[in-house]
Amino acid sequence: MGDDFDKSRYSLNPVHCRTAGGYIFVCLAENPPPIDDFVNDMNYYLEPYDLDNAKVAVQSEIIEKANWKLVVENNRECYHCDGSHPELLKSLLEWDDDNDPRSTPEFRDLVKKMQAFWESQDVPYKFQMRYENRNRIVRTPLKEAPIP
Ligand SMILES: [Fe+2]
Repeated sequence: MGDDFDKSRYSLNPVHCRTAGGYIFVCLAENPPPIDDFVNDMNYYLEPYDLDNAKVAVQSEIIEKANWKLVVENNRECYHCDGSHPELLKSLLEWDDDNDPRSTPEFRDLVKKMQAFWESQDVPYKFQMRYENRNRIVRTPLKEAPIP
């Protein structure tokens, strides 16, 4: 390229961008919706993990032969988990909120036990909902595994 190349005429389109806890949030809207409270929550909840200094241990690539909207929906629900990968449900509980009316007594007892532990360790765990449930964060326990 010659000296007369004006890089400013060929730059990418600017977008709104925020980082929190090692994650990057990009918004393409001209006027981005508020996110400050959620960013503060993310930084607080993820601080113990020091994600800014985390290293990638494994990378994989999956080419989905599907509409991207179905892939995103698949990420947001777990109706398919029991049939597609039941091993996930051996460690993962279905609810993230112990006030969820569908939660079981087993779940609520485990949450209460783990919350007492997290409280003693000064680890954030409380369910936070921001912007009318657009953004939420909570610490959830994994199912207790029987000792083999
Ligand atoms: Fe899945």
